[in-house]
Amino acid sequence: MSKAEVKTICIAGASGLAGAYMVKEALARGYRVNGTLRDISQLDKVSGLMRLPGAAERLHLFSADNSVSESFDAPLTQADAVFITCIPTLKHGADGTPAAELDRDRGMSEIIRPAEQACLNILRAAQRQGAKTAVLCSSTASAEPATPSFEKHEDRDISDAEMQIQQRKYAQAQKIVMEATAEAFTEEHGMRLCTFLPSMMVGAPLLPSHLKGHVLSFLAKLRHGKTGWHSTVPAGSMSLTSPDNLAKMSLAALENPKAAGRYFALSGSWSWARIYQEIAEYVPLEALPAPLGKDPEPPTRFDFSKRDSLGVPMRGIQQMFAEFYEAYEHVRLAPQA
Ligand SMILES: NC(=O)c1ccc[n+]([C@@H]2O[C@H](COP(=O)([O-])OP(=O)(O)OC[C@H]3O[C@@H](n4cnc5c(N)ncnc54)[C@H](OP(=O)(O)O)[C@@H]3O)[C@@H](O)[C@H]2O)c1
Repeated sequence: MSKAEVKTICIAGASGLAGAYMVKEALARGYRVNGTLRDISQLDKVSGLMRLPGAAERLHLFSADNSVSESFDAPLTQADAVFITCIPTLKHGADGTPAAELDRDRGMSEIIRPAEQACLNILRAAQRQGAKTAVLCSSTASAEPATPSFEKHEDRDISDAEMQIQQRKYAQAQKIVMEATAEAFTEEHGMRLCTFLPSMMVGAPLLPSHLKGHVLSFLAKLRHGKTGWHSTVPAGSMSLTSPDNLAKMSLAALENPKAAGRYFALSGSWSWARIYQEIAEYVPLEALPAPLGKDPEPPTRFDFSKRDSLGVPMRGIQQMFAEFYEAYEHVRLAPQA
């Protein structure tokens, strides 16, 4: 981009695992980035982000809370696009009750509506400030219909919110409800919407805070011989996302005016047995769960034609674990309690 062409984008959730990779990628591509976190006095996060290449010249950080729409007006000023990656999955009610134990009223008012409202708050600010494109980070939890396809496709395999709510899967249902709300809002206001569906994110932590509350914290604990994630290897499978791939896909979608709708943002699915076989390369034997003792279920299959239309080469799952453990050792980040 020439100096005159430099565009501004707002990354809402810049300090998060996905958000920090988006900031890094956007700066590398020459964008001016307005990033948000809840409190810019959190020096560990701010100083880590400001050390990214290009940050001193083109990164500005703002405090913003997704429950307050107006707090996003300043970071969205003159922004061409908003990247929404600051709506973490709510897994507990207001008093700490696990989502799956809430009744319908509480599930709706304490889990689903806040996620939906947070998304609307940011989109309303984007619309007020004239942003034309929204890139929403959702989850593969929105691609779990009652009868999934043999090979999942993001345009076909769409969760049934009512069914998930009836099953008290409020944590999952918040994603499809949020997506539907974003679709309706952007359609009404003539904005382009690209929605990304990542799964379990594994990659090098960019900030020490990425080792708190993520799957990365479990991987770090295992490295130190601490068990506790699973007591026995689960029979099922898990899909994996590289946060770097997610960031590159998000920027590729912004830069491709034809890109729109939902995109799987993952490399593939492995059985947990295979995942633990890979983790075993990096952690002491005593940290591993008891063997499954039978054949694992077949992993989920995906049709990746839409994902691949964005032209981003996907990392192998092996590489994601290697990158995590190499970076972890390199920076010698202590495991979080
Ligand atoms: N990580 C995964 O494995 C995974 C898997 C599937 C889907 N996803 C989805 O991907 C998205 C990003 O995930 P992530 O792991 O990158 O999240 P994360 O690391 O927890 O980051 C969340 C970001 O949102 C900000 N934030 C949190 N609460 C906020 C609030 N009330 N108002 C404004 N900002 C707030 C955080 O800022 P602070 O610094 O202020 O906390 C941080 O910048 C989420 O929607 C998540 O559900 C993640």
